[in-house]
Amino acid sequence: MFAHRSPEDCKVALIAGGTSGERQISLASKDGAMTALKEAGYQVDWLDPANRDDIRALIDGDYDVAFLCLHGKGGEDGTIQGFLELIGMPYTGSGVLSSAISIDKQKAKIFYDTHGIKTPASCYIRRSEPFNGHDITQRFGQKCVVKAATEGSSLGVYIVEGEQAIEQAIHDAQAIDTAVLVEQYIAGTELTVVVLGSGNTAEALPIIEIIPQADSYDFDSKYAPGGSEHICPARLTKEDTERIKATAVAAHNALSCHGVSRTDFILDDNGDAWVLETNTIPGMTETSLLPDAAKAAGISFPDLCKRLIESAFEKQLSQNMTPSTK
Ligand SMILES: Nc1ncnc2c1ncn2[C@@H]1O[C@H](COP(=O)(O)OP(=O)(O)O)[C@@H](O)[C@H]1O
Ligand SMILES: [Mg+2]
Repeated sequence: MFAHRSPEDCKVALIAGGTSGERQISLASKDGAMTALKEAGYQVDWLDPANRDDIRALIDGDYDVAFLCLHGKGGEDGTIQGFLELIGMPYTGSGVLSSAISIDKQKAKIFYDTHGIKTPASCYIRRSEPFNGHDITQRFGQKCVVKAATEGSSLGVYIVEGEQAIEQAIHDAQAIDTAVLVEQYIAGTELTVVVLGSGNTAEALPIIEIIPQADSYDFDSKYAPGGSEHICPARLTKEDTERIKATAVAAHNALSCHGVSRTDFILDDNGDAWVLETNTIPGMTETSLLPDAAKAAGISFPDLCKRLIESAFEKQLSQNMTPSTK
């Protein structure tokens, strides 16, 4: 029932929008994916989970597969994935547990650590927990990165120096998330690596080197025109390239990601590549990192979308899922 089918026979629910802080980014991803999916030959409707009628349409409509362009909470955290599992609809990307772990930057670190993947040292502070800037600087040094645990697009990421600034940043991050992590600051080159597939078939695309206009890859560097320069393939030796690609595949598999992921790194001056996070629904605007990496590998954006849809059907088959009766 869920075997591969030609794009012309496949009705896609492109799910984007939602209610997270990344709604606008999701809508921009939707525009990129919509064009690419149509170019690949699919029939596509956009459905927005912020709208109840659209959620009903997912249950009652005749969609064959859901293409997820929903970033942040409610979309990248296992929530929509659980709903789609319940109604038996195949969907692109990672499953419920993998999504839920990956969106939490601190929980993901536990999996990186278990698999010997280098990630900056950090501590976790829940909203009601006491904290002390002095203890934090003793542990991680004066310059730290304070992050809302489950936000994306650099929302709630503060690179700060000194006890007072660290304490203020923790307060600010706590206002937008129930948990916050404070991380050791790593100076170096920003890299990101897309991985396609899953398990033994997971493979890394060419590495992208990011040169932000600002000091870090903040919101404006990510989304403002000319906010950053992408160099792909990154200017690395063959050995470093292979080593960092293997680490990205290891991170993808440590988190049991499926279909696609994008792992962010900082490569320091000693040659150590530190994993910051793994995104399970990477941005898909036409200028996003994911289509850029695919292009460098000779995969067009429409072909990339087709691969993601095919892997959604494969995941459905391998899980032996049956749709609920209507
Ligand atoms: N430990 C760190 N050391 C140095 N820079 C960091 C560190 N963590 C994050 N950054 C900077 O902040 C950006 C966003 O952080 P990241 O953890 O990737 O969160 P997200 O992209 O989900 O907002 C990174 O791309 C990088 O520029
Ligand atoms: Mg990131």
